Amino acid sequence: MGRVLYSDPMHSGRHLVNIALIGFMGTGKTTVGRLVAEQLRFEYVDTDELIQAGTGRTIADIFAKEGEPAFRALEQKVVKELASRTRTVIATGGGLPVNPDNLTSLKTHSLVVCLWSSPEKIWERVRHQSHRPLLHDANPQAKIRELLAARERFYKQADVLLNTDLRSLREVTRQVAHQFQLESAGAK
Ligand code: S3P
Repeated sequence: MGRVLYSDPMHSGRHLVNIALIGFMGTGKTTVGRLVAEQLRFEYVDTDELIQAGTGRTIADIFAKEGEPAFRALEQKVVKELASRTRTVIATGGGLPVNPDNLTSLKTHSLVVCLWSSPEKIWERVRHQSHRPLLHDANPQAKIRELLAARERFYKQADVLLNTDLRSLREVTRQVAHQFQLESAGAK
């Protein structure tokens, strides 16, 4: 089972009605999020998709024309709007938990699960994709290592940390759903 870290959703009075998946690009948030939603009959949303739907623009375009700070402001707005959701699996952009307000907000209504991978596995998964502006770098592998090291302390604030290198994404899905059922039953 995943490692339960730092916070204790069973005894904190939190109202766990959703699941939020955090973690670096290429750790499996989208695949696992969709599968968990299917298994629990929850709705699935993705913060990047909500930003794109709300602005009518791609993430790459927002980064290119307005820069990362403008993207982060849109991300924070979307997170606030998620507070009214129930029975939803929320997949989040890889940089979202770096803003502590985002994590605080998600934790009021969601079990926060971090999917973790090694930089090598992440590279394997993202190397043939081109839609992520932060990896448009002369040395994307070094960039992954650098960002992952800088973000590790934020990712580790999740309620549950699951390494997706060691398990199939189906197995990770089962564990996320199981952990949610345990924690939400305990929190009632
Ligand atoms: C980002 C991750 C992306 C997207 C944006 C920035 C990041 O989402 O939000 O390109 O800062 O790590 P995924 O983690 O879904 O790729």
